[in-house]
Amino acid sequence: MTRSELEHLADHILMAIRSRPKQFFTYTSLAKKLASEPSMIEAAVRCLIDWGYRVRRRRREAVSFLEAPDTLTTVEIQHGLKTKLIGSRVHCYRLVKSTNDLAAQLAENGAPEGTIVTSEEQSAGRGRLGRLWHSPAGTGIYVSIVLLPKFLPDRAPGLSIMTALALATVLEEYCPGDVRIKWPNDLLVSGKKCAGILTELSAERNRINHVVVGVGINVNQQGVDFPPELRTVATSLRRCTKRKVNRVSLLKEFLKQLEKEYRLYQKIGLAKSQKRLRKYSALLGRKVKLVTGAHEVSGTAVDIDTNGALIIESNGKRVPVAAGEVTVAKD
Ligand code: BTN
Repeated sequence: MTRSELEHLADHILMAIRSRPKQFFTYTSLAKKLASEPSMIEAAVRCLIDWGYRVRRRRREAVSFLEAPDTLTTVEIQHGLKTKLIGSRVHCYRLVKSTNDLAAQLAENGAPEGTIVTSEEQSAGRGRLGRLWHSPAGTGIYVSIVLLPKFLPDRAPGLSIMTALALATVLEEYCPGDVRIKWPNDLLVSGKKCAGILTELSAERNRINHVVVGVGINVNQQGVDFPPELRTVATSLRRCTKRKVNRVSLLKEFLKQLEKEYRLYQKIGLAKSQKRLRKYSALLGRKVKLVTGAHEVSGTAVDIDTNGALIIESNGKRVPVAAGEVTVAKD
């Protein structure tokens, strides 16, 4: 039996034993069910253990399911995933340069909407404005989602804030009352950056080819895991909850919420989301300076409109800004 046949058998054993956790399945019954040999079942069970699954074995003749590892694999992400669109295809890697680049390539080659790419680690994770996104192995979530919206390109910037809203709703479950969105792409927990969004658009004048929404979440990093320059400005869910957080569950909750927000955004933009946007906003009521390319606007952030633009009151005028870099003036 080749390695990939063995892994395929292991996947099927996993499906069978997971369907009735705690029940013991004999190797003979599994061999019969999966048209294999008991010795092959034993080898495939060892394969599951190597992947980090916890099982109970009875005298090397029977096995039962105990626990799945917290690794981002296609099988784990799709198991019990309650979405129709987002996560319909899942590509998982151990190490890539950037999941956004891979997702863009997949989209260019015709990947269906909702395809996601994750990696345990990124060697050149990208943040906004050419910054790096620190992406150490096994502690964070690095995921990129392919979207193929039918609307015009001018509505694409709102996808970042729509994603931020989905993420804030999920993070709120972990850190109630502590989550804020720093328009348009940053998620803060206790005032420090916990997650970021990098939305990349490929479009013609009147048509979107594809959008890649890249999301990085600091999940289980501890203080020392951040490089010194990030320690005072970055945080993780673990630092706020004081416990390890299961990344697979968190990712699935996020994908589910994202699907909900995306459907709503396609129908009515952010028209019904404003109450929640105001609730989470780290900027409303604050004096800000916003830089968009060569333009600079200073004033008070007063609202977010139905396309996700930040409204700044400046010299008595309300100026909507679709994208840019915000700095909050010291009070
Ligand atoms: C930011 O806050 O500047 C945005 C950070 C976005 C990071 C994510 S991690 C997954 C995806 N792949 C990347 O290279 N970047 C995004």
